[in-house]
Amino acid sequence: MMTAIVLAAGSGRRMKSDVPKQFMRYKGRPLAASSLAAFQDSPEIDEIILVTSEAYISYCRTEIVEKYGFSKVTHIVPGGKERYDSVWQALLACEGTDYVMIHDSARPFVTGEIIARAAENVKKYGTAVAGVPSKDTIKIANAEGFVETTPDRRHCWCIQTPQAFAYPLIRRANEELRDSGRMDGITDDAMIVERSGLAPVRLFMGSYENIKITTPDDLKMLE
Ligand code: CTP
Ligand code: MG
Repeated sequence: MMTAIVLAAGSGRRMKSDVPKQFMRYKGRPLAASSLAAFQDSPEIDEIILVTSEAYISYCRTEIVEKYGFSKVTHIVPGGKERYDSVWQALLACEGTDYVMIHDSARPFVTGEIIARAAENVKKYGTAVAGVPSKDTIKIANAEGFVETTPDRRHCWCIQTPQAFAYPLIRRANEELRDSGRMDGITDDAMIVERSGLAPVRLFMGSYENIKITTPDDLKMLE
């Protein structure tokens, strides 16, 4: 059983729009619907858990799930303050599944091919994180804006979602870090597994088009 967790509980502070960015319209439908369609149409996915804020639960039910016929959505759960709190709520709602594939609804260009690669890798390795080799040189800077080091570009990847995990692994990694107060600075799910030390994290090729809509500049990509 493969469960997709689609995150749509953020408020989009960096976008500064009236509606949260995942509900902004693209090709006539909310961005979140584009993400959901990819999972709905993928034969790898058995069920979808949609996470949103309390204020948008009924909107998601009627204007997205019912309107576009996303029949694989089994739960719409309220999210939490941080992204990892939203993920946690979804993990509680799919206890007993074999694998979860966690995706930011603000990445509307995810494709069936990417989802298939995630499924193939997670079944083989227990972890599967989408990314692309960095085309730019990456530098690690200090807080004052001076370079500290330059990692070898051949080993630099820009990380995306979906990120897929065996359920018992991601459940335990989250539980351990939450219980011991080690969640500070966590920005993706892979980091939780890394910090837990429970398993190595496998990368697979996402796509350069699989961008996250984050700031007003990114809206140009939609045109
Ligand atoms: N997200 C979530 N719950 C949160 C925070 C974020 O479900 N408490 C979701 C967002 O809806 C988004 C994804 O996680 O689809 C990636 O987060 P990000 O791009 O940071 O979105 P926001 O947190 O909404 O934006 P910002 O950080 O600019 O406020
Ligand atoms: Mg955020």
